[in-house]
Amino acid sequence: MDPRTPRWATERIDVSRWPVRHVETTGTNQVVWLKAPDTGQLWLHKSVHVPSNGVAQGEDWAEVVTTQASMALRVPCAETRLCIRNGVPGSLSRSVVPAGCDLNEGGVVLEAACVPGYIRQTDNNKARDPRRPHVRRPGHNLSNINQVLRDVHPPPSFDGPVGCTGFDVFAGFLILDALVANRDRHEQNWAVLRPRLTDQPERLAPSYDHGGSLGYNLREEGRETLLREPAGLEAWAAKGTAHRFEHAPPAPTLVDHAAAAVRLCTPEAAQWWHAQLASLDLSELHGVLATGVSGMSETAATFASRVLDVNLRRLRDAINGGA
Ligand SMILES: Nc1ncnc2c1ncn2[C@@H]1O[C@H](COP(=O)(O)OP(=O)(O)OP(=O)(O)O)[C@@H](O)[C@H]1O
Ligand SMILES: [Mg+2]
Repeated sequence: MDPRTPRWATERIDVSRWPVRHVETTGTNQVVWLKAPDTGQLWLHKSVHVPSNGVAQGEDWAEVVTTQASMALRVPCAETRLCIRNGVPGSLSRSVVPAGCDLNEGGVVLEAACVPGYIRQTDNNKARDPRRPHVRRPGHNLSNINQVLRDVHPPPSFDGPVGCTGFDVFAGFLILDALVANRDRHEQNWAVLRPRLTDQPERLAPSYDHGGSLGYNLREEGRETLLREPAGLEAWAAKGTAHRFEHAPPAPTLVDHAAAAVRLCTPEAAQWWHAQLASLDLSELHGVLATGVSGMSETAATFASRVLDVNLRRLRDAINGGA
């Protein structure tokens, strides 16, 4: 490992002795909240998943690499780190919930607002509307999300134009998803921070759960084949669809969905996202990927770099008219 690479890429924090604060009940994977002994901060711990084919997946490096991409794009995002717990590699995501706030997941927010056509999807129950049986994820659409987020403030760490709405920043989440090929933005993977004191504003929570990005679950041979064939990589990127949002199959691409969200933004925010995309410089991240990220093979790192480049070009074409 190159000594110049940053700590987020090289260091795996051993959290075997960190006390468990509680088990997270949301999410499909077994995740626990750990308390950092030195700072008392809460970090969500996830182990990498090893499916029955025995090929360990890369949710851990996908989390930390996506965090860096989000910072470059100026999209508010949970801080993440690589870790190891009882010998098993994993990732940590620092709680985005400030003291005095509760996290209300998107599904809860949409349901409470009685937005048109929304039916909540749960782990055991696929949402279906009998009046629109061909429609997937009914009501989890940009118009409804705009309705519930336009009076919500941006996350505390957002440094864009004053006056942006929560939805304006949510559009940035969708740009990030398209950049890193994250197809998992379901309604538990975005949330509103609700202060317990009612004189404080509600805010969109910074983005979290990016473990499903950058081809984290591809086999090594699959990555190699796609890298050999530029058209193959393009085709793979185009298969990144916004299938967690309302659609009558086929779902739109992540890029087209992000572009549609930017069109719903306030003019100031739309201009800001145009500017972020135009000036986005991923050279530092490419450099780190080239020198090595713990747990990430050279092929996986090259693949991630190429995916970022292809998707940035596609986003610029769709949102900035190729500029
Ligand atoms: N950084 C964070 N701060 C606060 N809450 C978080 C954070 N990360 C995750 N959560 C909460 O924990 C839940 C589970 O975490 P996460 O979504 O990362 O796990 P998962 O099992 O990969 O989920 P999924 O079912 O989407 O694959 C989230 O739905 C959210 O409620
Ligand atoms: Mg999740």
